[in-house]
Amino acid sequence: MKIFLDTANIEHIRHGVRLGVVTGVTTNPSIVSREGKVDYRRLVQEICSIVPGPVSTEVLSQNAQGMVAEAREIAKWAQNIVVKIPASLEGVEATSVLASENIKVNFTLCFTLNQALLGTAAGATFVSPFVGRLDDIGEDGMKVVDDIAEYLDYYQLPTQVIAASIRHPQHCLVAAKVGAHIATVPYDVLLQMVRHPLTTIGIERFKEDWKKVMGREKLL
Ligand code: G3P
Repeated sequence: MKIFLDTANIEHIRHGVRLGVVTGVTTNPSIVSREGKVDYRRLVQEICSIVPGPVSTEVLSQNAQGMVAEAREIAKWAQNIVVKIPASLEGVEATSVLASENIKVNFTLCFTLNQALLGTAAGATFVSPFVGRLDDIGEDGMKVVDDIAEYLDYYQLPTQVIAASIRHPQHCLVAAKVGAHIATVPYDVLLQMVRHPLTTIGIERFKEDWKKVMGREKLL
């Protein structure tokens, strides 16, 4: 399973890429707004220059024509741009048009297998079920990821499922177990994924044992 960062924060993206584990980024209007009143195009282009893989950024229009117009413009900004289109009826129509023009679509705000099914049929490159938001209303978000992954695999479809709206490390490992191609994680969740108290204690203990006998802290 690939790891994308769900952020528009440049420092966090640089760090994720430096770690060598972040291969893509996803944003949405809320995420971009967290960076303040920015130059949207500039920010997205900077992200695209840092990240080796796909960078998803979202349209704001609610009708198909408007979505297509925004997406065509956004798609010119960089070669690794993916346009996020919401899983509405208008979004299905816009996705079909954009896919026919070879513009990559991330079919987002996906909450059911049926929505993913239509996004896939329309030619979306990615579908993004929002796990945390389903959990928030007492549903099982990961079950939707599981169902979509199984569906795509069964029919050998090229669309990839991105487990989105990830809230904690447990979401990541279950996403991997159910066969999500990608999990897009907030920066703090990425940091939590590697943290374990026994690792921290173990590192300290190795250092102390070494120092006790060798009389120095350095290995070489
Ligand atoms: O990738 C989708 C994500 O940005 C939504 O997350 O936490 O706002 O539900 P959240």
